[in-house]
Amino acid sequence: MKIDNPIQQHIDSLREQLHQHAHAYYVLDEPSIPDAEYDRLFRELQSLEAQYPESHSDDSPTQRVGAAPLDAFVSVEHEVPMLSLGNVFSDDELVAFDQRLRERLDYPSELEYAAEPKLDGLAISLLYEDGVLVRGATRGDGSVGEDVTQNIKTIHSIPLRLPKRGDWPKRLEVRGEVYMPKAGFEAMNAKAREQGDKVFANPRNAAAGSLRQLDSRIAASRPLDMYCYSVGVFEGELPATHSETLAMLGRWGFRICPESAVVTGASGCAEYYQQIGRARDTLPYEIDGVVYKVNSLKLQGDLGFVARAPRWATAHKFPPSEELTVLQDVEFQVGRTGALTPVARLEPVNVAGVVVSNATLHNMDEVKRKDVRIGDTVIVRRAGDVIPEVVKSVLERRPKEAPAIVMPSHCPVCGSDVIRPEGEAVARCSGGLYCSAQRREAIKHFASRKALDIDGVGDKLIDQLVDGELIDHVDDLFHLTVEQLASLERMGEKSATKAIEALENAKRTTLPKFLFALGIREVGEVTARNLAMHFGDLEPIMQASEDDLLAVADVGPIVAAHVKSFFEQPHNIEVIDKLLEAGFVWEPIEVAEQKEAVLDGHTYVLTGTFTAMKRDEAKQQLLALGAKVSGSVSKKTTAVFAGDSPGSKVDKAAELEVPVKTEEDLLELLKTM
Ligand code: IVH
Repeated sequence: MKIDNPIQQHIDSLREQLHQHAHAYYVLDEPSIPDAEYDRLFRELQSLEAQYPESHSDDSPTQRVGAAPLDAFVSVEHEVPMLSLGNVFSDDELVAFDQRLRERLDYPSELEYAAEPKLDGLAISLLYEDGVLVRGATRGDGSVGEDVTQNIKTIHSIPLRLPKRGDWPKRLEVRGEVYMPKAGFEAMNAKAREQGDKVFANPRNAAAGSLRQLDSRIAASRPLDMYCYSVGVFEGELPATHSETLAMLGRWGFRICPESAVVTGASGCAEYYQQIGRARDTLPYEIDGVVYKVNSLKLQGDLGFVARAPRWATAHKFPPSEELTVLQDVEFQVGRTGALTPVARLEPVNVAGVVVSNATLHNMDEVKRKDVRIGDTVIVRRAGDVIPEVVKSVLERRPKEAPAIVMPSHCPVCGSDVIRPEGEAVARCSGGLYCSAQRREAIKHFASRKALDIDGVGDKLIDQLVDGELIDHVDDLFHLTVEQLASLERMGEKSATKAIEALENAKRTTLPKFLFALGIREVGEVTARNLAMHFGDLEPIMQASEDDLLAVADVGPIVAAHVKSFFEQPHNIEVIDKLLEAGFVWEPIEVAEQKEAVLDGHTYVLTGTFTAMKRDEAKQQLLALGAKVSGSVSKKTTAVFAGDSPGSKVDKAAELEVPVKTEEDLLELLKTM
């Protein structure tokens, strides 16, 4: 079938719009349209491309979602070798580096350098032909790398094609570092830890592991990004300096590290090193030093190369943020939900400027995986402002008798049984609010910034109050007096008065905040909000059955069970009653009228990817019509709605002779109701 010209034009226009919006969002960090509108345009393009397969284009924005898995990566020979960098480790070595270059060039005045953070990811080459990305490759050994184009295309900030009227050359190779931002890395590992999956040791390994996936849909799900820092193949004339080259790449749509700068002489470099060193912990990406490059490309050419590194550039590494020390003991900390976290007590050691004597071991699965024992010499790492962690043991240095770390059978704080449900990575104290550690953490959560945000009532004060037996539960906070607070160490009359005022103000709140502050397991801010919007007030939530709760957006069986059981505990009801007595108020929320339960008695299963709406959205609409939506197919299932790439549920349906329907059928059903 030949495509109508107007349709092809519309497809082209959608592609162009999506390219521009993605550039604004991912490269410039200045979204130009709301996410929902982007999604709408994206789905429209997806459905047109599905309808007109001959419109296919490798540089369409729809190509970013990942493609069919490869059997293996193909080798790529780099036309221009990808070099490595020499190192300096001190200011003296930096001065010597600068001196060497000036002597070699016979350069009387100060040299200008382009200075950049040394990003901790992996070097990647992007090849553009006629402005279209045709290949992404790893550095490999510098001469031969691997073709990872499919994975590279899933990184939203990498242009799939260059701006229409750009002055880019016919063949252009752009190089830079693909990395995983710290926040994305932490979130990904936290999720993996929760699910008992493999965690990555650091953002660099995570980035490298993601690009080495043969299935690009996995890479697509990873929070990768790229900063570009040089060109390789370039069929055209380059600007006079490195910094202008970067600016030019920026104009063509590539992301350039915003911390890049131009500095003068060895002293300028040293200053830059100090400045980036101070900012290191607050940067959103991991770095292991800075790089200095002679800014003039002419002088770079004069200086040339030694072995596999340029003479005109060097890396200046930061002191390692990993050190060796001895693990003296392991204690178990009890969190708000009773989770027991093994914490390593270490022989104090200075890690990149901070003395570390405690480090987390996360959970027992990690302890086992890392095979850490008491008395071991261990590697500790401090990254950014996160809690230091034990990376691994140095087995060669293990003492003869190094006792294993054992999870206690009773809570170290309250003595209740410790329970670890089958299949879960986390062991918990079963004491609930009987356990003073859980109570203490519950109070801290209640007052914390994301919950009721009670100014002046921080973790330290709460520790003092609990230790001094002035409070036991959250409601006790509201019977404190200025005199009581003022009598505490490090508290004056003024801060005591302020804290009491803040407590008074906290009583005027919103239902979502109040629900979140209660600290119900698995009820984060989003779920608290969804519960509030669905039920409108506290009373109906307290009375809700598990089925009622399952009708709330994003609430599954586990969350429903936690909410139900929270409101079944008499001590929780008692605390809530006392809070209300103390004067807690919020505005009830108007709940949209319920639709008629026309699908009552029907059970549906949703599987695969839907294009016109998210699966959860479809689920909500079915639930609103009184249907049940189940995660597994049984004889009682009315029908299975299957989107793209459905899983085994379709086979199961066939086996049980349950009808399998399409997304269109589902839309039709929802429309007619
Ligand atoms: S320039 C000719 N700039 O460091 C110089 N490299 O040891 C080639 N790296 O493989 C590299 N940040 O992965 C350059 N701003 C930066 C960098 C950087 C990180 C990595 C890169 C390279 C390695 C060289």
